[in-house]
Amino acid sequence: MEVIKVRDYNEMSEKAAEYIIEKVKANSKIRLGLATGGTPLGLYKNMVTDFQHNNTSYRRVTSFNLDEYVGLSEEHPNSYRYYMNKSLFNHINTLKSNIHLPNGNAVSLQEECIRYDQLIQDSGGIDLQILGIGQNGHIGFNEPGTPFGSKVHVVRLTESTRQANKHFFNHMNEVPTHAITMGIQSIMKSKEILLLASGGQKSVAIHKLLQGEVSQQFPASILQLHPNVTVIADEEALSLA
Ligand code: GLP
Repeated sequence: MEVIKVRDYNEMSEKAAEYIIEKVKANSKIRLGLATGGTPLGLYKNMVTDFQHNNTSYRRVTSFNLDEYVGLSEEHPNSYRYYMNKSLFNHINTLKSNIHLPNGNAVSLQEECIRYDQLIQDSGGIDLQILGIGQNGHIGFNEPGTPFGSKVHVVRLTESTRQANKHFFNHMNEVPTHAITMGIQSIMKSKEILLLASGGQKSVAIHKLLQGEVSQQFPASILQLHPNVTVIADEEALSLA
């Protein structure tokens, strides 16, 4: 794993945007895996600013998001579809038909998991996957204990993850209890992974990611076995590493 240490959240966001923009310029048909949460917001902001100034084109780029809440419509302000539209897709020249997220409102969630998994495979797989990390080591919504062999699946969110995400909602009882997420195997199949982390609340997770044992109890630890992972983390996130 290559670790790029940066000063703070802003520098992490700038470096990550530069990294991705270079890749998009080198391969206009790149297939990106995208993440949500607070961490990549600055990255997306920088990509939008770059688009406005330099016209980096996303016309031929395909994207697959990691996860989506179950039970929220696309128009719900807390759905990840809405988040992605608002923070990135509405401001760059992506083609709607090239944007993919799991449908958390599908009639059959099991069929939706199979469909999404197949869609990623049929596209040729993800070239560059962006990841954040949960304080308990979750990636996507793969909570501790998720089998390393997992594909796209429905997950019951842990109370700690619901708590960590509750600030996006009005009340705790509005935070969904389930999500659809790419599995650990889906993530590990990406050719390249870029993981971002900022702030002291991620320091234990980053320490375990870089130095802990590989264990299903800490899902992100599997990344130690991936041949092409870059971590961009700030000083606070790296304070225990
Ligand atoms: C959510 C997302 C993850 C994200 C994590 C960390 O659970 N499903 O993809 O990495 O939160 O979020 P944040 O970046 O807000 O700390």
